[in-house]
Amino acid sequence: MARRAAFLAGAGAAALAAGLALAQAPGPAPEPHRTITSPESGRNYATPETLAIQDDDFQNPAFLWVEEGEQAWNHPAGSAGQSCASCHQDATASMRGVRARYPAYNAAKGRVVTLEQQVNICRTERMGAPELRIDSRELNAMTAFIGLQSRGMPMNVDISGPARPFFDRGEEFYNTRRGQLDMRCGSCHEDNYGRSLRADLLSQGMSNGFPTYRLKEQRVISLQFRLQGCVNDVRGEPPAMGSEEFTNLEFYLAWRAQGLPVETPSVRR
Ligand code: HEC
Ligand code: HEC
Repeated sequence: MARRAAFLAGAGAAALAAGLALAQAPGPAPEPHRTITSPESGRNYATPETLAIQDDDFQNPAFLWVEEGEQAWNHPAGSAGQSCASCHQDATASMRGVRARYPAYNAAKGRVVTLEQQVNICRTERMGAPELRIDSRELNAMTAFIGLQSRGMPMNVDISGPARPFFDRGEEFYNTRRGQLDMRCGSCHEDNYGRSLRADLLSQGMSNGFPTYRLKEQRVISLQFRLQGCVNDVRGEPPAMGSEEFTNLEFYLAWRAQGLPVETPSVRR
């Protein structure tokens, strides 16, 4: 306060005005517009048969991936001879809530990173281990295992401060028409949810269940694999999995799903 008063006292009228303008310019970004005000999980659009598989951990095939992830968690990899557990110990405690707040802004990287990318950052920078390919079985197993530790917790990503420009880019991607069908994501997931598209019942396209076991693929898939499928559906050119475009889009999707419980690992047809 004292320093500010001294600065104002010594300043001329023009400098005072400039100082005030400067002080106001970086204020908080306006709240983003939420098209769907009460989001619904994709489980509300799944068939009873699919839900029965999701709701029984013994039947849900994704638990094979979860088990593989847990084994990898405790298994040393890379030149440092360490496992995830060497640093993070018990995942049920250390990873609780992590899936609910990812993607997240990573200050060291100066950008938003997905959970997949964070796992790879630890592997390459802390373990001396190679990156796992996005959507590979090993990486989906790890994110399924980590995600499970947040099951039931509300999605709660932080889009404030330095994260906001990445969010804005994700929102812009979401709302851009693309492909031969010239559709935006919301053409299906905001304007037409609850209606059938070929064999599918369109949901609101929420991300809270990922990674998910896809019956059609007979494997656990990552969110970005699903997103490539959606861009292909409109006959567009999907960005690569792990690209900045999809990372920002995934960040926006997490915010769209804000408040929905994490359902990892869900089951979808
Ligand atoms: C040598 C210690 C070390 C090892 C080994 C390690 N990590 Fe990390 N990890 C860290 C540190 C330190 C952070 C926090 C700083 C950062 O973001 O890099 C972190 C952050 C994370 C986060 C983000 C947590 C949060 O609250 O945002 C996840 C997820 C994670 N690690 C997963 C893993 C996984 C999976 C492995 C094994 C493949 C692993 N880590 C191995 C040190 C380690
Ligand atoms: C032509 C219609 C169409 C468009 C456009 C479309 N999708 Fe989808 N999307 C689908 C269908 C069909 C499914 C599977 C059924 C469902 O959950 O809606 C799906 C599923 C999803 C899911 C998984 C939901 C769940 O609970 O498993 C997400 C997330 C998603 N879409 C996001 C997007 C995003 C982001 C875009 C824009 C890049 C997009 N979609 C564009 C048709 C579309």
